[in-house]
Amino acid sequence: MSGRIPEDFIDAVLARTDIAEVIGARVPLRRSGRELAGRCPFHEEKTPSFTVSPQKQFYHCFGCGAHGTVIGFLMALDRLDFREAIAELAQRAGMTLPEESPQAHESGTSLAALYEVLAAASAFYRKQLRHHPAAAGAVEYLKNRGLDGKTAARFHLGFAPDGWDGLGRALGERYGVDLLRQAGLLTGDDGGRGHDRFRGRVMFPIEDRRGRVIGFGGRIIGRGEPKYLNSPETPVFHKGRELYGLPNVLRQARNPQQLLVVEGYMDVVMLAQHGIDHAVAVLGTALTAEHLRAAFRVTPRLVLCFDGDNAGRRAAERAVDNALPELADGRELRLLFLPEGEDPDSLVRRIGKDAFLELAGQAVPVSRHLIDRLLREVDLTSTEGRAKLAALAKPLLDKLPAGTYRDLLGDEISRHVGRALPALVAKAARARPTPRSGSHPSLVRRAVLLLAHYPHLAAQLGDLSALAAVRRPGMDFLNRLLEAIAGLPQPRLDRLLEHWRGTPDGEALARVLTGSELVPQEAALAAQELEQIVARLLPQATRGRLGELLHGAAPSQLDAQQRAEVLALLKHRGGAPT
Ligand code: UTP
Ligand code: MN
Repeated sequence: MSGRIPEDFIDAVLARTDIAEVIGARVPLRRSGRELAGRCPFHEEKTPSFTVSPQKQFYHCFGCGAHGTVIGFLMALDRLDFREAIAELAQRAGMTLPEESPQAHESGTSLAALYEVLAAASAFYRKQLRHHPAAAGAVEYLKNRGLDGKTAARFHLGFAPDGWDGLGRALGERYGVDLLRQAGLLTGDDGGRGHDRFRGRVMFPIEDRRGRVIGFGGRIIGRGEPKYLNSPETPVFHKGRELYGLPNVLRQARNPQQLLVVEGYMDVVMLAQHGIDHAVAVLGTALTAEHLRAAFRVTPRLVLCFDGDNAGRRAAERAVDNALPELADGRELRLLFLPEGEDPDSLVRRIGKDAFLELAGQAVPVSRHLIDRLLREVDLTSTEGRAKLAALAKPLLDKLPAGTYRDLLGDEISRHVGRALPALVAKAARARPTPRSGSHPSLVRRAVLLLAHYPHLAAQLGDLSALAAVRRPGMDFLNRLLEAIAGLPQPRLDRLLEHWRGTPDGEALARVLTGSELVPQEAALAAQELEQIVARLLPQATRGRLGELLHGAAPSQLDAQQRAEVLALLKHRGGAPT
Protein backbone atom coordinates (compact mmCIF):
# COMPACT_ATOMS: atom_id res chain seq x y z
CA MET A 1 0.00 0.00 0.00
CA SER A 2 2.58 2.52 1.02
CA GLY A 3 5.33 1.59 -1.36
CA ARG A 4 7.96 4.13 -2.24
CA ILE A 5 6.83 6.98 -4.40
CA PRO A 6 8.97 7.03 -7.52
CA GLU A 7 11.35 9.96 -7.61
CA ASP A 8 10.25 11.06 -11.06
CA PHE A 9 6.70 11.35 -9.79
CA ILE A 10 7.90 13.62 -6.99
CA ASP A 11 9.75 15.64 -9.58
CA ALA A 12 6.65 15.93 -11.73
CA VAL A 13 4.61 17.10 -8.75
CA LEU A 14 7.21 19.73 -7.87
CA ALA A 15 7.33 20.87 -11.47
CA ARG A 16 3.58 21.48 -11.48
CA THR A 17 3.45 23.18 -8.09
CA ASP A 18 4.25 26.73 -7.12
CA ILE A 19 5.39 27.06 -3.53
CA ALA A 20 4.33 30.71 -3.46
CA GLU A 21 0.76 29.77 -4.30
CA VAL A 22 0.54 26.95 -1.77
CA ILE A 23 2.07 28.94 1.08
CA GLY A 24 0.39 32.17 0.00
CA ALA A 25 -2.99 30.48 0.47
CA ARG A 26 -2.21 29.99 4.15
CA VAL A 27 0.20 32.76 5.10
CA PRO A 28 -0.26 36.39 4.08
CA LEU A 29 2.81 37.23 1.99
CA ARG A 30 3.96 40.39 0.32
CA ARG A 31 6.63 40.90 -2.27
CA SER A 32 10.08 41.88 -1.04
CA GLY A 33 12.69 42.02 -3.76
CA ARG A 34 12.89 38.66 -5.46
CA GLU A 35 11.19 36.94 -2.59
CA LEU A 36 7.94 37.01 -0.68
CA ALA A 37 7.89 37.76 3.01
CA GLY A 38 5.43 37.34 5.83
CA ARG A 39 5.00 36.38 9.46
CA CYS A 40 6.30 32.90 10.16
CA PRO A 41 3.56 30.30 10.75
CA PHE A 42 5.95 28.18 12.81
CA HIS A 43 6.72 30.61 15.59
CA GLU A 44 5.22 33.71 17.18
CA GLU A 45 6.61 36.91 15.74
CA LYS A 46 5.64 40.52 15.18
CA THR A 47 7.98 41.44 12.35
CA PRO A 48 8.10 39.17 9.31
CA SER A 49 11.19 37.01 9.00
CA PHE A 50 9.59 34.27 6.95
CA THR A 51 10.58 34.29 3.28
CA VAL A 52 9.48 32.30 0.27
CA SER A 53 11.53 32.20 -2.88
CA PRO A 54 9.51 31.45 -6.02
CA GLN A 55 12.77 31.04 -7.90
CA LYS A 56 14.28 28.45 -5.62
CA GLN A 57 10.91 27.02 -4.60
CA PHE A 58 12.15 27.18 -1.05
CA TYR A 59 10.98 28.78 2.18
CA HIS A 60 13.14 29.92 5.05
CA CYS A 61 12.45 31.67 8.33
CA PHE A 62 15.37 33.71 9.58
CA GLY A 63 13.75 33.86 12.98
CA CYS A 64 13.31 30.20 13.84
CA GLY A 65 15.31 28.48 11.11
CA ALA A 66 12.34 26.61 9.64
CA HIS A 67 13.02 25.92 5.99
CA GLY A 68 12.35 23.49 3.18
CA THR A 69 10.40 22.67 0.08
CA VAL A 70 6.68 22.95 -0.50
CA ILE A 71 6.43 19.29 0.52
CA GLY A 72 8.23 19.98 3.77
CA PHE A 73 5.98 22.99 4.35
CA LEU A 74 2.78 20.93 4.16
CA MET A 75 4.32 18.24 6.34
CA ALA A 76 5.20 20.78 9.00
CA LEU A 77 2.10 22.96 8.89
CA ASP A 78 -0.58 20.34 8.32
CA ARG A 79 1.26 17.54 10.13
CA LEU A 80 1.12 15.38 7.05
CA ASP A 81 3.49 12.56 6.44
CA PHE A 82 5.55 12.61 3.28
CA ARG A 83 3.10 10.53 1.32
CA GLU A 84 0.13 12.59 2.33
CA ALA A 85 1.89 15.81 1.41
CA ILE A 86 2.70 14.44 -2.04
CA ALA A 87 -0.87 13.21 -2.44
CA GLU A 88 -2.20 16.64 -1.53
CA LEU A 89 0.02 18.43 -4.01
CA ALA A 90 -0.65 15.82 -6.67
CA GLN A 91 -4.36 16.31 -6.24
CA ARG A 92 -3.98 20.09 -6.61
CA ALA A 93 -2.04 19.47 -9.77
CA GLY A 94 -4.63 17.03 -11.10
CA MET A 95 -2.32 14.05 -10.82
CA THR A 96 -2.91 10.71 -9.12
CA LEU A 97 -0.40 9.10 -6.86
CA PRO A 98 0.93 5.96 -8.61
CA GLU A 99 -0.11 3.09 -6.35
CA GLU A 100 -2.03 5.27 -3.95
CA SER A 101 -5.11 3.12 -3.74
CA PRO A 102 -5.29 0.04 -5.86
CA GLN A 103 -8.93 -0.56 -4.93
CA ALA A 104 -10.13 2.95 -5.50
CA HIS A 105 -8.07 3.08 -8.62
CA GLU A 106 -9.48 0.10 -10.40
CA SER A 107 -13.02 1.25 -10.01
CA GLY A 108 -12.09 4.85 -10.74
CA THR A 109 -13.20 6.06 -7.31
CA SER A 110 -11.50 9.19 -6.14
CA LEU A 111 -10.40 9.72 -2.58
CA ALA A 112 -12.47 12.88 -2.52
CA ALA A 113 -15.60 10.79 -3.11
CA LEU A 114 -14.71 8.54 -0.19
CA TYR A 115 -14.18 11.48 2.13
CA GLU A 116 -17.50 12.89 1.04
CA VAL A 117 -19.54 9.75 1.65
CA LEU A 118 -17.84 9.20 5.02
CA ALA A 119 -18.70 12.76 6.07
CA ALA A 120 -22.28 12.17 4.97
CA ALA A 121 -22.41 8.94 6.99
CA SER A 122 -21.11 10.75 10.06
CA ALA A 123 -23.80 13.41 9.67
CA PHE A 124 -26.41 10.65 9.29
CA TYR A 125 -25.31 8.89 12.49
CA ARG A 126 -25.29 12.16 14.42
CA LYS A 127 -28.77 12.94 13.30
CA GLN A 128 -29.96 9.48 14.37
CA LEU A 129 -28.55 10.02 17.86
CA ARG A 130 -30.71 13.13 18.20
CA HIS A 131 -33.85 12.06 16.40
CA HIS A 132 -34.19 8.33 15.90
CA PRO A 133 -36.90 6.87 18.15
CA ALA A 134 -34.62 3.98 19.12
CA ALA A 135 -31.74 6.30 20.10
CA ALA A 136 -33.06 6.69 23.62
CA GLY A 137 -31.19 3.56 24.71
CA ALA A 138 -27.92 4.89 23.29
CA VAL A 139 -28.38 8.28 24.94
CA GLU A 140 -29.21 6.60 28.23
CA TYR A 141 -26.13 4.41 27.92
CA LEU A 142 -23.82 7.38 27.33
CA LYS A 143 -25.39 9.30 30.20
CA ASN A 144 -24.85 6.36 32.51
CA ARG A 145 -21.22 6.38 31.53
CA GLY A 146 -21.03 9.98 32.66
CA LEU A 147 -20.73 11.53 29.24
CA ASP A 148 -22.34 14.94 28.76
CA GLY A 149 -24.07 16.14 25.61
CA LYS A 150 -21.55 18.86 24.91
CA THR A 151 -18.67 16.41 24.80
CA ALA A 152 -20.64 13.96 22.68
CA ALA A 153 -21.30 16.78 20.22
CA ARG A 154 -17.67 17.89 20.27
CA PHE A 155 -16.57 14.39 19.23
CA HIS A 156 -19.41 14.09 16.72
CA LEU A 157 -20.73 10.93 18.36
CA GLY A 158 -23.65 9.28 16.61
CA PHE A 159 -25.97 6.34 16.62
CA ALA A 160 -26.36 3.54 14.08
CA PRO A 161 -29.94 2.23 14.29
CA ASP A 162 -30.53 -1.46 14.54
CA GLY A 163 -32.00 -1.96 11.06
CA TRP A 164 -30.17 -3.59 8.16
CA ASP A 165 -30.41 -0.80 5.69
CA GLY A 166 -30.91 2.51 7.52
CA LEU A 167 -27.70 4.01 6.18
CA GLY A 168 -27.99 2.23 2.85
CA ARG A 169 -31.44 3.73 2.29
CA ALA A 170 -30.43 7.20 3.44
CA LEU A 171 -27.28 7.47 1.33
CA GLY A 172 -27.56 4.73 -1.30
CA GLU A 173 -29.36 6.73 -3.91
CA ARG A 174 -27.07 9.72 -3.69
CA TYR A 175 -23.73 7.89 -3.46
CA GLY A 176 -24.35 4.44 -4.85
CA VAL A 177 -23.85 1.06 -3.23
CA ASP A 178 -20.33 0.61 -4.59
CA LEU A 179 -19.00 3.75 -2.98
CA LEU A 180 -20.68 2.96 0.35
CA ARG A 181 -19.11 -0.45 0.23
CA GLN A 182 -15.66 0.90 -0.59
CA ALA A 183 -15.97 3.30 2.31
CA GLY A 184 -16.52 0.27 4.56
CA LEU A 185 -20.07 1.28 5.43
CA LEU A 186 -21.82 -1.72 3.90
CA THR A 187 -20.96 -5.36 4.34
CA GLY A 188 -22.28 -8.80 3.38
CA ASP A 189 -23.88 -9.81 0.14
CA ASP A 190 -27.69 -9.69 0.20
CA GLY A 191 -27.84 -10.28 -3.53
CA GLY A 192 -25.17 -7.68 -4.19
CA ARG A 193 -26.66 -4.78 -2.28
CA GLY A 194 -25.05 -5.55 1.07
CA HIS A 195 -26.31 -4.29 4.42
CA ASP A 196 -25.25 -1.71 6.98
CA ARG A 197 -22.02 -2.72 8.70
CA PHE A 198 -22.80 -0.76 11.86
CA ARG A 199 -26.08 -1.61 13.57
CA GLY A 200 -27.32 -0.79 17.04
CA ARG A 201 -24.10 0.94 18.06
CA VAL A 202 -22.83 4.23 19.41
CA MET A 203 -20.69 5.64 16.62
CA PHE A 204 -17.30 7.28 17.10
CA PRO A 205 -16.22 8.90 13.85
CA ILE A 206 -12.47 8.66 13.37
CA GLU A 207 -11.11 11.86 11.89
CA ASP A 208 -7.69 12.52 10.46
CA ARG A 209 -5.42 15.39 11.47
CA ARG A 210 -7.41 17.78 9.39
CA GLY A 211 -10.76 16.66 10.71
CA ARG A 212 -11.83 14.62 7.70
CA VAL A 213 -13.84 11.52 8.60
CA ILE A 214 -11.89 8.45 7.52
CA GLY A 215 -13.66 5.66 9.40
CA PHE A 216 -15.72 4.69 12.40
CA GLY A 217 -15.60 2.76 15.60
CA GLY A 218 -18.97 1.54 16.82
CA ARG A 219 -19.56 0.48 20.40
CA ILE A 220 -22.21 -2.00 21.29
CA ILE A 221 -24.73 -0.61 23.73
CA GLY A 222 -24.20 -2.52 26.93
CA ARG A 223 -22.70 -5.99 26.77
CA GLY A 224 -22.03 -8.05 23.67
CA GLU A 225 -19.49 -9.07 21.12
CA PRO A 226 -17.59 -7.57 19.54
CA LYS A 227 -17.51 -4.68 21.98
CA TYR A 228 -16.18 -2.34 19.30
CA LEU A 229 -16.61 -2.79 15.59
CA ASN A 230 -14.23 -0.76 13.45
CA SER A 231 -14.19 0.24 9.80
CA PRO A 232 -12.13 -2.10 7.64
CA GLU A 233 -8.98 -0.81 5.98
CA THR A 234 -9.95 1.39 3.05
CA PRO A 235 -7.95 3.65 0.76
CA VAL A 236 -8.36 6.42 3.34
CA PHE A 237 -8.31 4.42 6.58
CA HIS A 238 -5.25 2.64 7.93
CA LYS A 239 -5.65 1.52 11.48
CA GLY A 240 -1.96 1.13 12.19
CA ARG A 241 -1.35 4.76 11.49
CA GLU A 242 -4.21 6.85 12.84
CA LEU A 243 -4.48 8.46 16.23
CA TYR A 244 -8.05 8.93 17.39
CA GLY A 245 -8.67 12.39 18.82
CA LEU A 246 -5.84 14.20 17.08
CA PRO A 247 -8.05 16.88 15.49
CA ASN A 248 -9.50 17.65 18.93
CA VAL A 249 -5.99 18.07 20.32
CA LEU A 250 -4.94 20.35 17.48
CA ARG A 251 -8.08 22.46 17.81
CA GLN A 252 -7.13 23.22 21.41
CA ALA A 253 -3.45 23.89 20.77
CA ARG A 254 -1.60 24.18 17.50
CA ASN A 255 1.62 23.09 19.15
CA PRO A 256 0.68 20.94 22.12
CA GLN A 257 3.33 20.59 24.82
CA GLN A 258 2.84 16.86 24.89
CA LEU A 259 0.54 14.04 23.81
CA LEU A 260 -0.92 11.41 26.06
CA VAL A 261 -1.37 8.19 24.11
CA VAL A 262 -4.14 5.97 25.51
CA GLU A 263 -5.90 2.81 24.42
CA GLY A 264 -9.57 3.58 23.97
CA TYR A 265 -12.04 5.90 22.29
CA MET A 266 -13.85 6.50 25.56
CA ASP A 267 -10.58 7.34 27.29
CA VAL A 268 -9.93 10.20 24.87
CA VAL A 269 -13.50 11.46 25.06
CA MET A 270 -13.76 11.33 28.85
CA LEU A 271 -10.35 12.94 29.39
CA ALA A 272 -11.45 15.78 27.09
CA GLN A 273 -14.66 16.19 29.05
CA HIS A 274 -12.48 16.70 32.13
CA GLY A 275 -10.38 19.34 30.40
CA ILE A 276 -7.49 17.08 29.42
CA ASP A 277 -7.27 17.84 25.75
CA HIS A 278 -3.99 16.29 24.72
CA ALA A 279 -5.00 12.64 24.60
CA VAL A 280 -5.09 10.46 21.50
CA ALA A 281 -5.83 6.74 21.16
CA VAL A 282 -4.60 3.94 18.97
CA LEU A 283 -7.42 2.01 17.35
CA GLY A 284 -7.38 -1.36 19.04
CA THR A 285 -3.93 -2.23 17.71
CA ALA A 286 -0.49 -2.21 19.27
CA LEU A 287 1.33 1.09 19.05
CA THR A 288 3.27 0.99 15.78
CA ALA A 289 6.34 2.91 14.66
CA GLU A 290 4.02 4.78 12.30
CA HIS A 291 1.83 5.88 15.22
CA LEU A 292 4.90 7.12 17.00
CA ARG A 293 6.13 9.04 14.01
CA ALA A 294 2.71 10.65 13.57
CA ALA A 295 2.68 11.60 17.26
CA PHE A 296 6.24 12.94 17.20
CA ARG A 297 5.27 15.16 14.28
CA VAL A 298 2.89 16.94 16.64
CA THR A 299 5.12 17.26 19.68
CA PRO A 300 8.50 16.01 20.88
CA ARG A 301 7.00 14.85 24.18
CA LEU A 302 4.91 11.69 24.47
CA VAL A 303 3.46 9.90 27.45
CA LEU A 304 2.25 6.39 26.71
CA CYS A 305 -0.47 5.25 29.03
CA PHE A 306 -0.98 1.56 29.87
CA ASP A 307 -3.16 -0.48 32.15
CA GLY A 308 -1.35 -1.69 35.22
CA ASP A 309 -2.23 -5.33 34.55
CA ASN A 310 -0.09 -7.91 32.78
CA ALA A 311 -1.64 -7.26 29.40
CA GLY A 312 -0.83 -3.58 29.81
CA ARG A 313 2.78 -4.38 30.73
CA ARG A 314 3.14 -6.59 27.68
CA ALA A 315 1.64 -3.88 25.46
CA ALA A 316 4.13 -1.42 26.97
CA GLU A 317 7.11 -3.64 26.12
CA ARG A 318 5.95 -4.00 22.53
CA ALA A 319 5.42 -0.27 22.26
CA VAL A 320 8.85 0.47 23.70
CA ASP A 321 10.50 -1.91 21.25
CA ASN A 322 8.76 -0.13 18.37
CA ALA A 323 9.73 3.23 19.80
CA LEU A 324 13.48 2.73 20.14
CA PRO A 325 14.39 3.60 16.53
CA GLU A 326 12.31 6.77 16.82
CA LEU A 327 14.11 8.14 19.86
CA ALA A 328 16.09 10.85 18.18
CA ASP A 329 17.65 13.68 20.15
CA GLY A 330 15.17 16.17 21.50
CA ARG A 331 12.37 13.63 21.74
CA GLU A 332 11.07 12.49 25.04
CA LEU A 333 9.08 9.35 25.74
CA ARG A 334 7.63 8.41 29.10
CA LEU A 335 5.49 5.53 30.30
CA LEU A 336 2.54 5.75 32.62
CA PHE A 337 1.16 2.62 34.28
CA LEU A 338 -2.30 3.05 35.73
CA PRO A 339 -3.48 1.30 38.88
CA GLU A 340 -4.81 -2.17 38.11
CA GLY A 341 -8.38 -2.32 36.98
CA GLU A 342 -8.47 1.32 35.88
CA ASP A 343 -8.37 2.90 32.48
CA PRO A 344 -8.02 6.66 31.89
CA ASP A 345 -11.79 6.95 31.50
CA SER A 346 -12.58 5.37 34.85
CA LEU A 347 -9.65 6.99 36.60
CA VAL A 348 -10.29 10.57 35.55
CA ARG A 349 -13.93 10.21 36.62
CA ARG A 350 -12.77 8.87 39.97
CA ILE A 351 -9.93 11.26 40.82
CA GLY A 352 -10.53 14.29 38.57
CA LYS A 353 -8.32 16.35 36.31
CA ASP A 354 -5.68 17.62 38.72
CA ALA A 355 -4.90 14.31 40.35
CA PHE A 356 -4.84 12.63 36.96
CA LEU A 357 -2.37 15.16 35.59
CA GLU A 358 -0.25 14.80 38.69
CA LEU A 359 -0.14 11.07 38.16
CA ALA A 360 0.75 11.58 34.50
CA GLY A 361 3.56 13.86 35.64
CA GLN A 362 5.11 10.85 37.36
CA ALA A 363 5.40 8.85 34.14
CA VAL A 364 8.73 7.03 33.90
CA PRO A 365 11.26 8.10 31.24
CA VAL A 366 11.80 5.32 28.74
CA SER A 367 15.56 5.21 29.48
CA ARG A 368 14.81 4.55 33.17
CA HIS A 369 12.29 1.91 32.19
CA LEU A 370 14.76 0.13 29.90
CA ILE A 371 17.50 0.06 32.50
CA ASP A 372 15.19 -1.19 35.22
CA ARG A 373 13.94 -3.88 32.90
CA LEU A 374 17.50 -5.03 32.11
CA LEU A 375 18.61 -4.92 35.72
CA ARG A 376 15.67 -7.06 36.77
CA GLU A 377 16.89 -9.80 34.47
CA VAL A 378 20.47 -10.12 35.67
CA ASP A 379 22.44 -10.67 38.86
CA LEU A 380 25.01 -7.90 38.99
CA THR A 381 27.01 -9.53 41.80
CA SER A 382 28.33 -12.20 39.47
CA THR A 383 30.67 -11.84 36.51
CA GLU A 384 28.25 -13.89 34.40
CA GLY A 385 25.43 -11.55 35.33
CA ARG A 386 27.40 -8.50 34.25
CA ALA A 387 28.35 -10.19 30.98
CA LYS A 388 24.71 -11.05 30.44
CA LEU A 389 23.74 -7.42 31.00
CA ALA A 390 26.14 -6.33 28.28
CA ALA A 391 24.72 -8.95 25.95
CA LEU A 392 21.11 -7.99 26.65
CA ALA A 393 21.83 -4.29 26.27
CA LYS A 394 23.56 -4.56 22.93
CA PRO A 395 20.49 -5.21 20.72
CA LEU A 396 18.57 -2.44 22.48
CA LEU A 397 21.36 0.06 21.99
CA ASP A 398 21.71 -1.00 18.38
CA LYS A 399 18.10 -0.06 17.78
CA LEU A 400 18.54 3.44 19.17
CA PRO A 401 19.65 6.12 16.73
CA ALA A 402 22.97 7.74 17.53
CA GLY A 403 22.44 10.48 20.03
CA THR A 404 21.85 11.37 23.61
CA TYR A 405 19.63 8.40 24.45
CA ARG A 406 22.16 5.88 23.26
CA ASP A 407 25.02 7.70 24.94
CA LEU A 408 23.16 7.90 28.24
CA LEU A 409 22.07 4.29 28.20
CA GLY A 410 25.46 3.09 27.03
CA ASP A 411 27.14 4.99 29.86
CA GLU A 412 24.81 3.73 32.51
CA ILE A 413 25.07 0.14 31.38
CA SER A 414 28.85 0.38 31.14
CA ARG A 415 28.87 1.57 34.73
CA HIS A 416 26.92 -1.48 35.84
CA VAL A 417 28.97 -3.86 33.75
CA GLY A 418 32.09 -2.33 35.28
CA ARG A 419 33.88 -1.55 32.06
CA ALA A 420 33.31 0.40 28.91
CA LEU A 421 31.54 -1.48 26.17
CA PRO A 422 33.83 -0.79 23.22
CA ALA A 423 31.34 -1.81 20.57
CA LEU A 424 28.73 0.50 22.04
CA VAL A 425 30.96 3.42 22.76
CA ALA A 426 32.53 3.39 19.33
CA LYS A 427 29.11 3.46 17.78
CA ALA A 428 28.00 6.34 19.91
CA ALA A 429 30.76 8.54 18.55
CA ARG A 430 28.90 9.94 15.60
CA ALA A 431 30.46 10.49 12.26
CA ARG A 432 29.16 13.61 10.58
CA PRO A 433 29.64 13.89 6.85
CA THR A 434 29.10 17.62 7.22
CA PRO A 435 31.36 20.43 6.51
CA ARG A 436 31.68 21.79 10.05
CA SER A 437 30.39 25.23 10.74
CA GLY A 438 33.21 27.27 12.16
CA SER A 439 33.22 30.94 12.97
CA HIS A 440 35.01 31.39 9.66
CA PRO A 441 33.09 29.61 6.93
CA SER A 442 35.42 27.52 4.83
CA LEU A 443 35.65 27.85 1.09
CA VAL A 444 34.11 24.43 0.69
CA ARG A 445 31.19 25.20 2.95
CA ARG A 446 30.61 28.46 1.13
CA ALA A 447 30.62 26.64 -2.21
CA VAL A 448 28.08 24.17 -0.87
CA LEU A 449 25.82 26.97 0.28
CA LEU A 450 26.01 28.84 -3.01
CA LEU A 451 25.52 25.73 -5.13
CA ALA A 452 22.57 24.60 -3.03
CA HIS A 453 20.83 27.92 -3.61
CA TYR A 454 21.83 28.17 -7.26
CA PRO A 455 22.37 24.59 -8.44
CA HIS A 456 22.08 25.59 -12.10
CA LEU A 457 25.44 27.35 -11.72
CA ALA A 458 27.19 23.99 -11.40
CA ALA A 459 26.89 23.46 -15.14
CA GLN A 460 28.52 26.84 -15.84
CA LEU A 461 31.60 26.06 -13.80
CA GLY A 462 33.05 23.65 -16.32
CA ASP A 463 34.62 20.32 -15.53
CA LEU A 464 35.08 20.09 -11.80
CA SER A 465 36.12 16.44 -11.64
CA ALA A 466 39.63 17.56 -10.66
CA LEU A 467 38.16 18.77 -7.36
CA ALA A 468 37.97 15.14 -6.29
CA ALA A 469 41.70 15.33 -5.54
CA VAL A 470 41.42 18.26 -3.12
CA ARG A 471 41.90 17.14 0.45
CA ARG A 472 39.81 19.47 2.57
CA PRO A 473 37.10 18.99 5.16
CA GLY A 474 33.75 18.76 3.45
CA MET A 475 35.27 18.14 0.03
CA ASP A 476 33.68 14.71 -0.33
CA PHE A 477 30.38 16.28 0.49
CA LEU A 478 30.84 19.00 -2.11
CA ASN A 479 31.66 16.35 -4.69
CA ARG A 480 28.55 14.37 -3.80
CA LEU A 481 26.57 17.58 -4.09
CA LEU A 482 27.92 18.22 -7.59
CA GLU A 483 27.11 14.67 -8.55
CA ALA A 484 23.57 14.92 -7.19
CA ILE A 485 22.98 18.21 -9.01
CA ALA A 486 24.20 16.67 -12.26
CA GLY A 487 21.60 13.93 -11.86
CA LEU A 488 18.63 16.22 -11.25
CA PRO A 489 16.05 16.63 -14.00
CA GLN A 490 16.02 20.32 -13.23
CA PRO A 491 18.74 21.94 -11.12
CA ARG A 492 16.70 23.59 -8.37
CA LEU A 493 17.04 23.64 -4.59
CA ASP A 494 13.73 21.93 -3.89
CA ARG A 495 14.57 19.03 -6.22
CA LEU A 496 17.86 18.60 -4.48
CA LEU A 497 16.30 18.62 -1.03
CA GLU A 498 13.69 16.07 -2.02
CA HIS A 499 16.32 13.92 -3.73
CA TRP A 500 18.24 13.78 -0.46
CA ARG A 501 15.26 13.67 1.90
CA GLY A 502 15.91 11.42 4.87
CA THR A 503 19.59 10.83 4.04
CA PRO A 504 22.64 11.95 6.03
CA ASP A 505 23.62 14.16 3.09
CA GLY A 506 20.19 15.77 3.26
CA GLU A 507 20.67 16.49 6.95
CA ALA A 508 24.12 17.90 6.33
CA LEU A 509 22.72 20.17 3.64
CA ALA A 510 19.96 21.33 5.97
CA ARG A 511 22.58 22.33 8.53
CA VAL A 512 24.38 24.44 5.93
CA LEU A 513 21.13 26.03 4.77
CA THR A 514 20.09 27.07 8.27
CA GLY A 515 23.38 28.80 9.03
CA SER A 516 23.36 32.55 9.33
CA GLU A 517 25.48 33.22 6.26
CA LEU A 518 23.91 35.44 3.65
CA VAL A 519 23.48 34.30 0.09
CA PRO A 520 23.59 36.79 -2.78
CA GLN A 521 20.12 37.61 -4.08
CA GLU A 522 21.45 37.71 -7.65
CA ALA A 523 22.52 34.51 -9.34
CA ALA A 524 25.18 36.47 -11.19
CA LEU A 525 26.85 37.48 -7.94
CA ALA A 526 26.73 33.92 -6.69
CA ALA A 527 28.31 32.79 -9.96
CA GLN A 528 31.18 35.23 -9.53
CA GLU A 529 31.81 34.09 -6.01
CA LEU A 530 31.70 30.44 -7.00
CA GLU A 531 34.20 31.01 -9.78
CA GLN A 532 36.56 32.63 -7.32
CA ILE A 533 36.24 29.73 -4.92
CA VAL A 534 36.85 27.18 -7.66
CA ALA A 535 39.87 29.20 -8.81
CA ARG A 536 41.28 28.90 -5.31
CA LEU A 537 40.45 25.23 -4.89
CA LEU A 538 41.66 23.93 -8.24
CA PRO A 539 45.38 24.65 -7.73
CA GLN A 540 45.10 22.60 -4.59
CA ALA A 541 43.66 19.81 -6.67
CA THR A 542 46.62 20.07 -9.01
CA ARG A 543 49.03 19.98 -6.09
CA GLY A 544 47.18 17.10 -4.51
CA ARG A 545 47.15 15.06 -7.69
CA LEU A 546 50.79 15.82 -8.47
CA GLY A 547 51.71 14.79 -4.96
CA GLU A 548 49.85 11.53 -5.45
CA LEU A 549 51.56 10.83 -8.73
CA LEU A 550 55.06 11.89 -7.77
CA HIS A 551 55.34 10.89 -4.17
CA GLY A 552 53.06 7.90 -4.20
CA ALA A 553 55.37 5.92 -6.47
CA ALA A 554 58.84 6.22 -7.94
CA PRO A 555 58.67 8.18 -11.23
CA SER A 556 60.06 5.24 -13.14
CA GLN A 557 56.98 3.27 -12.21
CA LEU A 558 54.53 5.73 -13.75
CA ASP A 559 52.93 4.42 -16.90
CA ALA A 560 52.73 6.46 -20.05
CA GLN A 561 49.32 7.86 -19.25
CA GLN A 562 50.40 8.94 -15.77
CA ARG A 563 53.50 10.58 -17.14
CA ALA A 564 51.38 12.53 -19.59
CA GLU A 565 49.15 13.58 -16.72
CA VAL A 566 52.12 14.82 -14.69
CA LEU A 567 53.31 16.89 -17.63
CA ALA A 568 49.88 18.36 -18.17
CA LEU A 569 49.54 19.21 -14.49
CA LEU A 570 52.95 20.83 -14.39
CA LYS A 571 52.16 22.91 -17.44
CA HIS A 572 48.81 23.86 -15.95
CA ARG A 573 50.26 25.25 -12.76
CA GLY A 574 53.33 26.69 -14.48
CA GLY A 575 55.97 25.50 -12.05
CA ALA A 576 57.60 22.65 -10.29
CA PRO A 577 55.77 20.70 -7.60
CA THR A 578 56.33 21.95 -4.09
P1 UTP B 1 -10.91 -1.72 25.76
O1 UTP B 1 -11.41 -3.11 25.80
O2 UTP B 1 -9.86 -1.31 26.73
O3 UTP B 1 -12.20 -0.92 25.93
O4 UTP B 1 -10.45 -1.41 24.30
P2 UTP B 1 -12.47 0.55 26.39
O5 UTP B 1 -11.87 1.53 25.44
O6 UTP B 1 -12.18 0.71 27.80
O7 UTP B 1 -14.00 0.54 26.07
P3 UTP B 1 -15.18 0.80 27.03
O8 UTP B 1 -14.70 1.74 28.06
O9 UTP B 1 -15.57 -0.53 27.57
O10 UTP B 1 -16.21 1.37 26.12
C1 UTP B 1 -9.59 -0.37 23.95
C2 UTP B 1 -9.73 -0.07 22.50
O11 UTP B 1 -9.51 -1.23 21.74
C3 UTP B 1 -10.34 -1.27 20.61
C4 UTP B 1 -11.12 0.02 20.63
O12 UTP B 1 -10.43 0.99 19.88
C5 UTP B 1 -11.11 0.38 22.09
O13 UTP B 1 -11.34 1.75 22.33
N1 UTP B 1 -11.25 -2.41 20.63
C6 UTP B 1 -11.64 -2.98 21.79
C7 UTP B 1 -11.72 -2.89 19.45
O14 UTP B 1 -11.37 -2.38 18.37
N2 UTP B 1 -12.59 -3.96 19.44
C8 UTP B 1 -13.02 -4.53 20.60
O15 UTP B 1 -13.82 -5.45 20.55
C9 UTP B 1 -12.51 -4.05 21.79
MN1 MN C 1 -12.99 1.75 29.22
